[in-house]
This record gives sequence, structure tokens and C-alpha cells, in this order.
Amino acid sequence: MQHFDFSGVEAWQSAWYFAAEVHAGQTVPGSEIGYVRHLGSVMMEVLAAHAALAIPDLDLAVQCAILHDCIEDQGVAHGELVQRFGQAVADGVLALSKRADLPKAEAMVDSLQRIQQQPTAVWCVKLADRICNLNGMPAGWSLEKAAKYQREAKRILAALAPAHPWLAERLAARIAAYLPASPDCPAPAVSS
Ligand code: NI
Repeated sequence: MQHFDFSGVEAWQSAWYFAAEVHAGQTVPGSEIGYVRHLGSVMMEVLAAHAALAIPDLDLAVQCAILHDCIEDQGVAHGELVQRFGQAVADGVLALSKRADLPKAEAMVDSLQRIQQQPTAVWCVKLADRICNLNGMPAGWSLEKAAKYQREAKRILAALAPAHPWLAERLAARIAAYLPASPDCPAPAVSS
């Protein structure tokens, strides 16, 4: 296990405090659980990934993990992030934000293309985000909706896997386990 550099911890905490504030009142969909649960999970995934295989610029990855939904979900301005956390973090979070003016499928492709222009630390956040979001099918989702989400995850994996083989393997495993398999309705093959 490699040495962890925690020298950026105060910047991480600033991001965490800011995220807790701007996401206050937002809940995990279909529950009354605070949205910070998701942000913390993504941060932990990034830290675990770094322990397994170093992520270049861990500080960027951790701050982007904490802040990754604050533009898309809470309408925080890119300029405010620049001011508070610097250009690299703000640009990373912006790339991780789907544009609201595009149709959903197009918005994901557009976001992936913008993520690919960012340092690999930002790619890692997207992989970690989808790993967390595939931790079981949400209650109330149809199989069809879940299958669509799984297909989208495969596109994310294909686009971003080179950034971090450990995260890529985790995501591939989550994709494979996502849909309930049954003899009547086998889960679609993952490799397609
Ligand atoms: Ni997310």
C-alpha cells in the first residue's frame, strides 16, 4: 500500500462544507436521505482507487468528487467554483455536468467528450460516480429503465476505462451484477 498524501485535506474539507451547504435539502431520489450520502460515496470510491493505483492529482479528483453534482443539480455557477476552488476544479466539475439544453442521450455523449479533455483525475470521478450509482437498482425503476442505465454505463466504461484499470474493473463488475438475472428473463450480456 502506497503512502497517502493528505496535505490537501483542508481543500477537501472546504469543498465538503460547500457541497453540504449547496445540496442541503436535496435528497437521494426516492428517499429522505440527504444527498451528501452520494457525494461521500463517490469520494470514498476515489480514495480507495487511489490506494489501489495512484491517481495523478488526487486533490483534483477528491474535490471534483465532492463537487461533481453542484452545477448540474444545484445551479452553482462555474465562476463561483473558480473563485472558491480554482480553475482546474471548476473546469473538472463543469465537464462532469450534463448540459440541460441537450437531449439526455446527447448530453451524456457531450459530457464524456468534455471529460476526455480533462486530466485523468476527472475521468476517475466519472467512473467512481457510476460505480456508486450502480450499487443496486433503485426501488421503483422498471427493468427497461435499468437496462437503459446499464447500457449508458457501458458507454461510460468504454470511453473512460483507460484512465484507471482498477476503477474500470469495479465498474465492469457493477454493470455485470446490476440487473436481476432470472431463468425467464436473463440479464443482457455485458460485453455487447
Ligand atoms: Ni453523481
